[in-house]
Amino acid sequence: MWFLLFYTIITNLLLRQASTGAGAAAASSLNITAVFAFGDSILDPGNNNHLVTVARADYRPYGQDLPEKTPTGRFSNGKLITDFAVSLLGLKEMLPPYLDPALNDTGLLTGASFASAGSGLDDLTAREVNAMTMGDQLELFEKGLERIRRKVGAKEARYVVGNALFVFAVGTNDVARSYYGLPFIKTFTSSGYHDFLLNNFESIILRLYNMGARMFGLSGLPPVGCLPIQMTLNLSPGDFLKRVCINQQNVDSQAYNTKLQALISRLQVRLKGSKIAYFDVFNPMMDMINNPQKYGIEHTMEGCCGTGLLELGPLCNALTPTCPNPSNYLFWDAIHPSQKTYHTLAKVFYNNALPLLL
Ligand SMILES: *[C@@H]1O[C@H](CO)[C@@H](O)[C@H](O)[C@H]1NC(C)=O
Ligand SMILES: *[C@@H]1O[C@H](CO)[C@@H](O)[C@H](O)[C@H]1NC(C)=O
Repeated sequence: MWFLLFYTIITNLLLRQASTGAGAAAASSLNITAVFAFGDSILDPGNNNHLVTVARADYRPYGQDLPEKTPTGRFSNGKLITDFAVSLLGLKEMLPPYLDPALNDTGLLTGASFASAGSGLDDLTAREVNAMTMGDQLELFEKGLERIRRKVGAKEARYVVGNALFVFAVGTNDVARSYYGLPFIKTFTSSGYHDFLLNNFESIILRLYNMGARMFGLSGLPPVGCLPIQMTLNLSPGDFLKRVCINQQNVDSQAYNTKLQALISRLQVRLKGSKIAYFDVFNPMMDMINNPQKYGIEHTMEGCCGTGLLELGPLCNALTPTCPNPSNYLFWDAIHPSQKTYHTLAKVFYNNALPLLL
């Protein structure tokens, strides 16, 4: 009995040390110069504040647990996964939005986010809410690259970009909002739509590779069927007290993730000198849902903002009551993770995905 307990503690300590070691070792030998982020609200720290769109989070209660306790446009109560990541990499405290006028050339050298809430790999998804398409985001990055070249010269700029980590979180809006929500897209099978999305993903990676990018981290889909809004939209009438993850949507998410991993393997062979890591968010989030106590959380089926069942964006506002302790929640609103979840996922990224880039 005692021996077992002792054994468990020691093994846990060793495991923790080993995993911390892997991330730290990778970080120190990779010499990552900067992080450039692309995609949707998961990585948008406030670019959408500068667009005419309803997909924004620059009002309370968003950002209530940030150091300044003010909304920034981040779709959470606090920091995003990329904020924790740049801090773990020792680059800076938080990853700023590219469109922030306060971002100067020196700040740009260590990275920025080009992501736009509401965006997707399908331009239709982005246009529906007037977010920046992935093409718009790449154009903006080209402008940023021009600024970097002017600041440090062409040779140094090549080093900065070649040693930068290009991270992506995108696809959830395409499947959750466009595919499951817009009937006319159903001319595609789910698998056909995934092929269409991944084809677009491939072109984006190729364009960045041609601009000198070499290190990529591509995240897969979360368990879409466990997003609170999806559970709410799919409640069977007369049974709405029973909240369960929608199995078919999770099966679809995993099918997409399998194809994304196959695409990564193909690109890895084709793009000389590149390193492309798959970042699995599906399994870590499922583990949080299945074993919440392991992570010190209690609520996994609804968000902290309002009823937690459907509030997000404009419906989660200064007048919406929030839960007293967001760090007890997997989700902050009906679709976006809480800061607690982002912190957990950032550690998974650092320890599991970063070593894949070596
Ligand atoms: C990392 O950076 C250091 C200091 O600039 C340099 O000495 C080393 O060669 C770099 N390592 C790699 C793998 O680029
Ligand atoms: C650039 O921005 C950083 C932080 O936002 C600031 O500390 C620094 O002084 C700025 N540099 C210049 C040259 O304005």
